[in-house]
Amino acid sequence: MSAIGYIYTVILVLCLVESSQTAALDGACTVDGNCTTNAVCTTGLCKCNTGFVANTGNTDCLAKVALDGECTIDAQCTITTNAGKCTGSKCACSTGYVANSGATACLATAALDGACTIDAQCTITTNAGKCTATKCACSTGYVANSGTTACLATAALDGACTIDAQCTITPNAGKCTASKCACSTGYVANSGTTACLATAALDGACTIDAQCTITTNAGKCTATKCACSTGYSANAGKTTCIADGALGGTCLNDAACTGTTNAVCAASKCTCKANYIANTAGTACIADGALGGTCLNDNACTGTTHANVCTASKCMCKTNYSANTAGTACIAPGALKGTCSANTDCTGTANAGNCTTYMCECNAGYTANTDETACSLGMMILAAPWMLLMMVMTTSLSKL
Ligand SMILES: *[C@@H]1O[C@H](CO)[C@@H](O)[C@H](O)[C@H]1NC(C)=O
Ligand SMILES: *[C@@H]1O[C@H](CO)[C@@H](O)[C@H](O)[C@H]1NC(C)=O
Ligand SMILES: *[C@@H]1O[C@H](CO)[C@@H](O)[C@H](O)[C@H]1NC(C)=O
Repeated sequence: MSAIGYIYTVILVLCLVESSQTAALDGACTVDGNCTTNAVCTTGLCKCNTGFVANTGNTDCLAKVALDGECTIDAQCTITTNAGKCTGSKCACSTGYVANSGATACLATAALDGACTIDAQCTITTNAGKCTATKCACSTGYVANSGTTACLATAALDGACTIDAQCTITPNAGKCTASKCACSTGYVANSGTTACLATAALDGACTIDAQCTITTNAGKCTATKCACSTGYSANAGKTTCIADGALGGTCLNDAACTGTTNAVCAASKCTCKANYIANTAGTACIADGALGGTCLNDNACTGTTHANVCTASKCMCKTNYSANTAGTACIAPGALKGTCSANTDCTGTANAGNCTTYMCECNAGYTANTDETACSLGMMILAAPWMLLMMVMTTSLSKL
């Protein structure tokens, strides 16, 4: 063995002796020098120093690391709260947490409506990826369901929906009906079901017939305005459509004015004949001197019992008497539809002992007959408006 070889051997031996004096972690020691790097001798055993943790083999001390710091094992990732995972050689947020924008803290993920400070936290509920006003909200194009447990896609007219709130894409298509977005009240779909058009009254703007739904019998869109349907014509104020032959309706001759007693054809419109005047509703012709008819003085009001007062050139019911709904009779105070100030005043009609807003009404469970002279048990079946109109007209006729 050469001299150099001898020296190397001595150095190797010395090294072995030296390393045998270094205790492993949890090994016996008397001074820190007995322990491995970054370990200290604590009550006779080598332990990792503050800021260090033992590696998996318990042979080495590894530095504790904050979020985003270099690591080899999860155990190192203890500095940042909830950043306990070593992923890709870096400490990362634990499951259920995400890093804040500066990667200095881990923030809890949140479901829809849960607390948040940044969008990235909002990962639990599908499509609820926005942090708005410190709460997770549905992403653009989605709305929360009623329980705020899920985000539902917004939809256009005719698109699938389960709640009204989804129907936001097409203006005025805000109703979810039969699982499809439909036009809101006051609107109808265009022919392609791509837009909602406002419904319109007679003379109102329109592009299609379907919009013309507000005024009865004004269902035609002509020259961009709603017009009366065939068989009807508009009144002077363009507020209603009057059936041909009815009072105010078009006519060719007197014989065509079949809708109203005492009407004749004048200037192509059915008009009340001489000595008659149309009632306020424009549904009947009232003889001069009858309730609602013209008069010069009280003495002229002879046509209707108790309607013997001429006011503003019209015959009116005398004091404390009131006109019935049809305007054909004057009702005594205390009778059905007559005036009252208390239930006890309502004694004129059987089963009409109910004073409601100064008018005697039928008792609960009773219904007034069509000429409002009696109350009968049970409900009258509510007829369509034209049926009611016919009843009124019939009543008027019977009184004339
Ligand atoms: C600790 O180190 C001291 C001084 O180097 C040495 O004398 C002692 O034997 C060592 N003890 C252990 C248990 O290794
Ligand atoms: C009208 O009714 C009131 C209140 O009941 C009564 O005081 C008044 O005398 C009545 N008038 C007539 C003209 O009957
Ligand atoms: C009185 O009449 C009103 C209106 O018709 C009705 O709603 C109410 O039930 C009646 N009350 C009684 C006590 O009969």
